[in-house]
Amino acid sequence: MHPRRIGLLTGGGDCPGLNAVIRAVTKTALLHHNLEVLGIEDGFEGLIENRTHPLTYEAASGILATGGTILGTSNTANPFSYPVRQPDGTLRATDVSAQALATFRANGLDALVCVGGDGTLSIAHGLHQLGLPVVGVPKTIDNDIWGSDQTFGFDTAVGIITDALDRIHSTAMSHHRVMVVEVMGRNAGWLALYAGVAGGADIILLPEIPFNWGAVCEKVTFRGSVGRRFTIVVVAEGAAPAGGSQVVDRVVAGSHEPTRLGGIGKLVSSTIEDRTGIESRVTVLGHLQRGGPPSAADRILCTELGRRAVELIVSGQVGQTLVVREGRITTKPLAAAAGKQRTVPLDHPLLASARAVGTSFGEG
Ligand code: F6P
Repeated sequence: MHPRRIGLLTGGGDCPGLNAVIRAVTKTALLHHNLEVLGIEDGFEGLIENRTHPLTYEAASGILATGGTILGTSNTANPFSYPVRQPDGTLRATDVSAQALATFRANGLDALVCVGGDGTLSIAHGLHQLGLPVVGVPKTIDNDIWGSDQTFGFDTAVGIITDALDRIHSTAMSHHRVMVVEVMGRNAGWLALYAGVAGGADIILLPEIPFNWGAVCEKVTFRGSVGRRFTIVVVAEGAAPAGGSQVVDRVVAGSHEPTRLGGIGKLVSSTIEDRTGIESRVTVLGHLQRGGPPSAADRILCTELGRRAVELIVSGQVGQTLVVREGRITTKPLAAAAGKQRTVPLDHPLLASARAVGTSFGEG
């Protein structure tokens, strides 16, 4: 049966390029497949609470270059574990997947496109197992989706961090300081590695390579001894010293991601200053890294992903997520991608290239 109406939602943390995907899905569906598109508001929250609106050609126009998501998103809305207020006023995690299915049916949907990170894809997989025809489109600035060489948003975030590093460089040189820049990525060091290389960082600290304080400080003092009176350090939020643990900003019980990483940059900066006597400052780039317009490369990737998502539905290939493999867009079963993270392999060629130009990963 040819589908007539599809739903589209964006889930999890936002990311540059979401609107470009919304545009591509909507225009492809309307212009080439005679399909209606229903926008589901605020990720799975809208699917649970039946909050939707039609995505018209006009609604999908003029958004290619805009940041965020016109549909809204939610980090906390998981239909399999949704906070429901109890008679005593407390919230209890409850399986409301039947409500999500009911919204799908009540709106006459034939398929659902879920754009999101590993959490969203896991939920999409769960809904598919309940019989919902679902297609996944992976997004995240962290670039950590299992089975995909690249996710949209990553290129933009690398660009933002690189621009920040260029600016940090000039003030570091003027003041002869160590400048530490903390970047996102959770347990994956892709952002730190790529932007660190692009921005010419002297030291890059990744979650995948536990670092040694002595080696980090030695690199700083060595640079001083050969006349380089400043040092740029890029540290991933998930990096940790050998034998130590990740620095946690807050633990919020019941949250989609109860452990919020943050603070390693401050620790690295103060430890370097204490041990070397060289003045040090920290900059935490935070959510700047995922705001604003997508890069040209991300706009192109998103346009292709949006078209391909609609084509998967039309050809009946549901239960799949799109992935990028060796420069081409292909598919993987949602089951294979859900719930796993892709971290930087220790034999990644960019690690070797960085070492070749003298970058330290704090090993030793
Ligand atoms: O997944 C992207 C990401 O930006 C992570 O790198 C970061 O840890 C997390 O989201 C923070 O997201 P939020 O503040 O929305 O919980």
